[in-house]
Amino acid sequence: MNDPPPRSVVSRRELLGVGAGSLAAAVLAGCSGSGNGGSANGSPAATAGMPLTQPTVLTSRDGRLDVTLRAEAGTVPYGDGRRFAYTYNGSSPGPTLRVRPGDKLTITLENRLDQPTNLHTHGLHVSPSGDADNVFVMVGPGRSHSYTYEIPADHRSGLNWYHPHHHGLVAPQLAGGLFGAIVVADALDDLPEVVGSTERVLVLSDPTIGDSASVLDAGRMEVMAGREGGAALVNGLLTPAIAAAAGSLERWRVLNASASRYYRLALEGHQLHVMATDGGRLARPVAVDDVLLAPGERVEVLVAPAAAGRHRLRTRGYDRGTPMGGGMMGGGMGGATGGGGSSGRDPQDLATLVVTGTAPAAALPTSLAPPSDLEAGTAGRERSFVLAMGMGGGGMGGMGGAMMSFTINGESFDATRTNVTAQLGTVEDWVLTNTSSMDHPFHLHAWPFQVVERSSGPDDLPGWKDTVNVPANATVRVRVHFADITGRSVYHCHILDHEDQGMMGTIEVS
Ligand code: C2O
Ligand code: CU
Ligand code: CU
Repeated sequence: MNDPPPRSVVSRRELLGVGAGSLAAAVLAGCSGSGNGGSANGSPAATAGMPLTQPTVLTSRDGRLDVTLRAEAGTVPYGDGRRFAYTYNGSSPGPTLRVRPGDKLTITLENRLDQPTNLHTHGLHVSPSGDADNVFVMVGPGRSHSYTYEIPADHRSGLNWYHPHHHGLVAPQLAGGLFGAIVVADALDDLPEVVGSTERVLVLSDPTIGDSASVLDAGRMEVMAGREGGAALVNGLLTPAIAAAAGSLERWRVLNASASRYYRLALEGHQLHVMATDGGRLARPVAVDDVLLAPGERVEVLVAPAAAGRHRLRTRGYDRGTPMGGGMMGGGMGGATGGGGSSGRDPQDLATLVVTGTAPAAALPTSLAPPSDLEAGTAGRERSFVLAMGMGGGGMGGMGGAMMSFTINGESFDATRTNVTAQLGTVEDWVLTNTSSMDHPFHLHAWPFQVVERSSGPDDLPGWKDTVNVPANATVRVRVHFADITGRSVYHCHILDHEDQGMMGTIEVS
């Protein structure tokens, strides 16, 4: 191994796309804004309030999208300076991939990190086998791997995403900056009301990146709780500004790409009209005051600005519990970003919607998609999954004993074992019970589900999901449809430190 990696092969499409994201970001990096008071250790200030930019968009043509993603260490614009991070093609978030149902997507992943990595397309209803969305593939340092994804012609539209999935290194690689959006756009995206809106992707992250050439290591306590960075960013920016005219319609596709942080999203003076969840559109928009986004979850909202002024897009804060049930230890990995060291428990500003002019609110679409029939269906069988954290297990020793164990049905992840076998075309109820004192967002690859009932937590939206929050000491029942796809894949907690510590199982559908 360790052949010198091939020189960067930048496709024409990437060259064309580069202007929008990177150039704008570079220009912005050079302008000094008002700043937020700088950080403790003399690092560049994290300048707030710059205009929200979009990651570079790479769009399929004639049914194909071929991209190269280089996973590499580098620096990203941050405020009026730059920060070390892991990047795809030099940026974090990586490029947004925009495809249509029926497309063939190929991604060549070049690993220029000093550690193994790989790629997962979270939310895509595609094969988990071979060179498709196979998380058991490992791409060593200096190596590359070509993934091919056949997106079914009836794939639901919506926001999905890509990120590394090499067991044991998932949390540090995501928290270091490796993630990007995948939009599946379909014919209903041509709905006049929707097309008349300004569509934006909002990738939420709280990277644990440092001033020096490193991604911060998490301590034992941070691993147990799930690491959080010092500041919450939108598309890599600190509290960016979103400019809109009164009477217009904004359409935001929001992704929680944080390794562990939860967001309870709310927009001052506005309701959020939810039009889609993880797995695609709702039958009609649902108006809410706020929406909880656990790690891995997505939501698509319409916003109708009417009043001139500045309206803060915020997280209201969410208490996701603690490993031992006591008080939380420390904040986030505070010094990391100079952002103040708060955690997702605390309310925090994420962006500002700056509305100019006055005009009546734009009309919202009333119907988005034919209602799904799965809810009416009945499950052929029921399975139970107990998500648990216990003392003992890991070998990190030290203070007061061993590392906690993170298990599903008493077992830690073992790639060679198959925990669940299911039959293609069947419907199952999965009863997810969390016996621990902190929340776990449960995620199943490849086969989407709907939430049937829960013992606690905010009401669920009536849509398809691939990630669902299971609150501390609570039970959630989901209905899984094993449609279309066979193969072996995984389900796990999307607090990625918990996944890395073993809270993951394997499933084979045949
Ligand atoms: Cu977003 Cu198995 O992961
Ligand atoms: Cu996934
Ligand atoms: Cu967890």
